[in-house]
Amino acid sequence: MALPFPELTAEEAAALIDNGQTVGFSGFTPAGAAKAIPRALAERAKAEHKAGRPFKLGVITGASTGDSLDGRLAEADAVAWRTPYQSNPLMRKNINQGRTRFFDMHLSLLQQWVRYGFLGKLHFAVVEASEVTADGEITLTTSVGATNTFLHSAEKILIEVNSHHPVELYGLHDIYEPADPPHRREVPIYSVRQRSGDPVVKVDPKRIAGIVFTDESDEVGGFKAADAITRKIGENVADFLAGEIRLGRIPKGFLPIQSGVGNIANAVLGAMGEHPDIPAFEMYSEVIQDSVIDLMESGRLSFASGTSLTVSPQILTKIYQNLDFFRRRMLLRPQEISNNPEVVRRLGIISINTAIEVDIFGNVNSTHIMGNDMMNGIGGSGDFTRNAYISIFTCPSLAKGGQITPIVPLCSHLDHSEHSVQVVVTEQGIADLRGKDPLERSQEIIEKCAHPDFRDELRGYSRDVQGGHTPQTLNRAFAMHQRFLETGSMHGVDWK
Ligand code: COA
Repeated sequence: MALPFPELTAEEAAALIDNGQTVGFSGFTPAGAAKAIPRALAERAKAEHKAGRPFKLGVITGASTGDSLDGRLAEADAVAWRTPYQSNPLMRKNINQGRTRFFDMHLSLLQQWVRYGFLGKLHFAVVEASEVTADGEITLTTSVGATNTFLHSAEKILIEVNSHHPVELYGLHDIYEPADPPHRREVPIYSVRQRSGDPVVKVDPKRIAGIVFTDESDEVGGFKAADAITRKIGENVADFLAGEIRLGRIPKGFLPIQSGVGNIANAVLGAMGEHPDIPAFEMYSEVIQDSVIDLMESGRLSFASGTSLTVSPQILTKIYQNLDFFRRRMLLRPQEISNNPEVVRRLGIISINTAIEVDIFGNVNSTHIMGNDMMNGIGGSGDFTRNAYISIFTCPSLAKGGQITPIVPLCSHLDHSEHSVQVVVTEQGIADLRGKDPLERSQEIIEKCAHPDFRDELRGYSRDVQGGHTPQTLNRAFAMHQRFLETGSMHGVDWK
């Protein structure tokens, strides 16, 4: 049956959006990200700029997106401001050069900020769907992210109906949107696999300004195979968790896992899957990535709740060919629910995230290089870390060919404080910070996690400090960073 909405080309859809407007795009990672309309918006921006007219938008998404969205819009210099997270090299460059204003947000807060009006008026929701019905029931594709809120809050809606995704995706999503204070109740999720909402997002069809039909895959890149360092980090995390089970501090049946994205996260999950003392487990996390699917097939992972299905194209094809198998083992929720602090604490989630820097007292920098340059953003790491049953941070003990130690005297930017960080793991070992004072923590982190090439230098930092609770010396705290900026290496700091 023909739908009662205008069928538009991507260019016609892009022409409806004006300079200065704010757009909420679907997408959490490249999974489920709008593609055709943002590409057309980038072309429009280029044409407007060429004609001497301004064209820049406010861009909100679930998290990072694909090249057609962040990449193309950044290339066209079409983004006035951006939130809550990005990982595209061109977008990062624009942010660090001051062409795009970026504010870094905890991902669980984004949806309520949009509803509360903290980000101003949302003019358009531009979202990808696998199906739309005449009465406004929208089945999403490979992510939920913040899309349900964009659909509910935007003045107008544009939908990319992408036939690359089967309509049988109906039922993969669980859309629950909490009421706002003072009417909010507890989030009714008491187990990883519990459903509490609807399989579709329902909107007033009158707000749908048009539909663009597309057929294209998500722009998900592959992962690097685990190397010796990431494999060892993974094994250390798995050994630590198995030890906690043996000591009776994690129940024998285990607790749900949250794991960050990327190569270290893949290696950690792989090592957990192989560890003989870790039972088959569940994930309550953000991103369901390739390694999760492998573990599901081998029976080591019994269920995954996430907000995006960020898998390589061949894995997605496999999932679509066996949708019944996978549908019984996974579901996608809005990011304010997948990352919900209340649920994280209730379920006792073990969080495992990656740091750029960890200081010797246990503070973590997840976002900035040398204090100045934004990398990606805090993402969901804060949502989980602050509320986890046990919060773990991983990183290699060396960066930039051995010239940088990610274990530093004081982080050059702070995302997670010592109060939220409980365990630090590098390929060198495991620092368990629970119940330790600042001096003990610094010894634990230097001796167990720092690379041997940097241990002496790090020991030297606190050597002469007399008294006080935390052996910190403010005028030397960034000497290693300063040394790197001046010489290209953190080695060779003179502490006198
Ligand atoms: N100082 C300077 N540069 C550093 C560094 C340090 N201490 N540590 C890492 N880097 C550089 C690396 O050399 C690399 O640079 P390159 O791209 O030029 O090679 C870059 O930072 C990324 O490092 P890499 O080891 O490839 O990181 P990754 O892919 O494992 O990602 C984070 C690490 C921290 C950037 C990433 O996990 C992130 O964005 N985290 C925040 C959000 C989050 O935790 N999300 C999950 C929550 S659910």
